[in-house]
Amino acid sequence: MTRQVRPARRIFRPTMMNLRTTICLLALAATAVAQPIEPAKLNTMIEALTRLGPEAVNANPKLAEALGKVLAATRGTPQFVQLVEQFKVAGQNSGLIEVAIKHPADEAGVAALRLVLASGDTAALAAAFADKDTAKVTKLVEALGNSGAKQLPALLLPLLADAKRDVALRKQAVRSLARTQEGAAALLKLAREDQLPAEIRFTAATELNAVRWPELKSEAARLLPPPPGQGDKSLPPIAELLAMKGDAKRGAEVFSRETVGCAKCHVVNGQGIDFGPDLSEIGSKLGKDALLESILDPSAGISFGFEAWSVEAKDGEEFFGLIVSETGDDVSVKTVGGVVTKFKKSTLARRQQSKLSIMPAGLQQTMTVQELADLLEYLATLKKK
Ligand code: HEC
Repeated sequence: MTRQVRPARRIFRPTMMNLRTTICLLALAATAVAQPIEPAKLNTMIEALTRLGPEAVNANPKLAEALGKVLAATRGTPQFVQLVEQFKVAGQNSGLIEVAIKHPADEAGVAALRLVLASGDTAALAAAFADKDTAKVTKLVEALGNSGAKQLPALLLPLLADAKRDVALRKQAVRSLARTQEGAAALLKLAREDQLPAEIRFTAATELNAVRWPELKSEAARLLPPPPGQGDKSLPPIAELLAMKGDAKRGAEVFSRETVGCAKCHVVNGQGIDFGPDLSEIGSKLGKDALLESILDPSAGISFGFEAWSVEAKDGEEFFGLIVSETGDDVSVKTVGGVVTKFKKSTLARRQQSKLSIMPAGLQQTMTVQELADLLEYLATLKKK
């Protein structure tokens, strides 16, 4: 007992304030761990600990225990991050990562990640990346981008290259990488070496053409030019396209125009050929930015169940389309135009899933920029009734 009290006395000057604070804290620390701390009590504890300062708290096991309780009670909040930083508490990385996931675009989340990165413990991040909850991992990747950390390429390039990962997550990895000069340079290197996976190429092009480092930007314009518009002119920047005013009625005409061909593959309210997804309610599912991306870069996020397959029969015949049904013996392939062909599996030589969408890229080249804005407006109006 005396061994605990004496060093404490030596460290803080025995003013009445410190004495009272310490006694109060020791009393609080004695409450059961499982018992939730009331907010008023919690604030008193934090204030008292802050007043004593990290040295005094860390030197006294009872006070350190009180700190531990305060940390447990504030877990997941910005306050938790402040406390870990202020008292230099080690081994809190999973709690810090939790805050980063909750607040990916706030100061607290970024501060939390800086602490994690500074600890040099990459195992905690690796564990967080392995979480089955893709939305959480995506938030963490967003927070990493906001942290501007030098380690971004080492952390995010493997995610981006992993074809088994969710495409939205991999795109976020691209956006996060493009936030830092090292990250943008790493993306460009992949482009230069022709190693950028097709699914994320469009996102990489969009991000890299907008970075603030002139040399990287001009190399991006060369390696990943923005998508061409009609007559080989390149399209205006995405943000500008999205801000344009469109006319939904004219957009409907563009949609069914023979030379554009949307209606050859999509049904809207019973009209058109049933090949790709029915778009009657697409405006409720996708925002304008996602709609635009579906047109400019169909392979970026292929809708579930609409993956393209190439099927080769033993006699050399080859089909490219959607697999619409499969039994033990047969497999049915729907080709563009909506025709379904049934094959006996025993007659097939090979079948392979394609990384590319059946929806062709470059359809914006069949229309003017204004017509593209009209088409977007039209699609955005197709909502659930
Ligand atoms: C050759 C057939 C074909 C043509 C032509 C075509 N599409 Fe598609 N489209 C598809 C297929 C197949 C998919 C599903 C696979 C994918 O997401 O890439 C798709 C997906 C989409 C999606 C995303 C749907 C969703 O549920 O996420 C949108 C939006 C879309 N197309 C709009 C258009 C528009 C607008 C045009 C005309 C400019 C067009 N498509 C022309 C076949 C086509």
